[in-house]
Amino acid sequence: MVVRSMSNPDLSQPMSSHARAMMDRRERLLGPNNPTFYDEPVNFVRGEGVWLYDHAGQRYLDCYNNVAHVGHCHPKVVEAVCRQTSTLNTHSRYLHDNMLDYAERLTATFDPSLNTLLYTCTGSEANDVALRMARQVTGNQGIIVTDHAYHGNTELVMELGTIFSDAESLPSYVKTIPAPDSYHLPADAADLEQMGDQIIDHLQESIAALQKAGHGLAALLICPIFANEGFPDLPADLNSRLTEAVHAAGGMIIADEVQSGFGRCGAAMWGHQATGFLPDLVTLGKPMGNGYPIAGVVTRADIMSTFRQNSMYFNTFAANPVACAAALATLAVISDEDLINNAATVGEYSRNRLVKLQERFAALGNIRGSGLFFGGEFVSDRETKLADSVTARKVMNRMREEGVIMGVIGSRDNLLKIRPPMPFSKSNADLLFDKLQYVLDGI
Ligand SMILES: Cc1ncc(COP(=O)(O)O)c(C=O)c1O
Repeated sequence: MVVRSMSNPDLSQPMSSHARAMMDRRERLLGPNNPTFYDEPVNFVRGEGVWLYDHAGQRYLDCYNNVAHVGHCHPKVVEAVCRQTSTLNTHSRYLHDNMLDYAERLTATFDPSLNTLLYTCTGSEANDVALRMARQVTGNQGIIVTDHAYHGNTELVMELGTIFSDAESLPSYVKTIPAPDSYHLPADAADLEQMGDQIIDHLQESIAALQKAGHGLAALLICPIFANEGFPDLPADLNSRLTEAVHAAGGMIIADEVQSGFGRCGAAMWGHQATGFLPDLVTLGKPMGNGYPIAGVVTRADIMSTFRQNSMYFNTFAANPVACAAALATLAVISDEDLINNAATVGEYSRNRLVKLQERFAALGNIRGSGLFFGGEFVSDRETKLADSVTARKVMNRMREEGVIMGVIGSRDNLLKIRPPMPFSKSNADLLFDKLQYVLDGI
């Protein structure tokens, strides 16, 4: 099996003595190949709102972290966690209002049919359980993902990690569809709509292959905005057409909202609402507890009840009262501070500023994204659109030196990924783009 690893700094390159000592210790204590960001890995010791502070007191504008969704150390979340942790923390085999209150408030943000919640601790577990539910309810085993997918780290979910492995290495019950790519359209697709048609054709082929092999189709698992794939522009009806085709084949559609959820796209609370489809199962994670581990699967009552009646599922730390207190407070802050509208407004403002930079720098081949999840693709030539991952990584590392934290993703590893905490303001965006212009001027 071909396994690609996550990017790591080149340990043979110069690094500060502080980072070097911590990296050596990390490798000795935790083993090798533990992913870190940046050529000079950063040691944060404190966070507040959209700001992070390193061990030497340097301040960084966080343009990357969706875990601290409502801002680092948000006082309301901190207070809720402190209050609950000093009162009681147990597990889910006792009765507790927090787990019920949260399930009630969370599911109220979904279509009325998606009205039950199974708690987990991580997004990986949520996807793992959602796939088990789909398999159990459909009686089929086959799973389809995109050809550049990451959905987590359990054994089952890792098998779907096409971001790390080649198509030939996939188990026979896993098939792929091409990830939508609005900038590098396939040679025989004239526009987004034709790209969409081709993806649907591929889906039909993958379904047929699973059926022929006797697996049938249990589920198509997608991130509604294809975040890890590079958050492309989508044909308006792509996700609803995928859903229709999956249902016609007797399968279920799972929306992995670990990255796209909780208002990130600005247009709605959930990525599936923003991109126009109704999934059978929705998986949640990262932002849910603003850093406190809590995740889950939201689904219909009939699916939940079939699963619960046929499987024993217990997860010691999931839905503990403190995790639920963190999640309750996070949900309240999203609404109290109108953060979904903020994502829409500041997201649009940011993309306009990025477009201005694109006019000035030929290396910025394409700008895209929605809400507070956007970025730009680096190319060495706009005509050929040849991906330039070296410049993308250089920019990311230079921005870190300038005190701005961002990432690089996409199947060509050349897409700046900007996904700040949701209270990100226009003045934060101004600082980000002033710095980006300065860095690009020097490259
Ligand atoms: C789309 C998506 N799904 C699932 C996961 C796994 O979540 P976790 O790391 O909480 O297990 C990730 C993590 O990066 C992700 O990006």
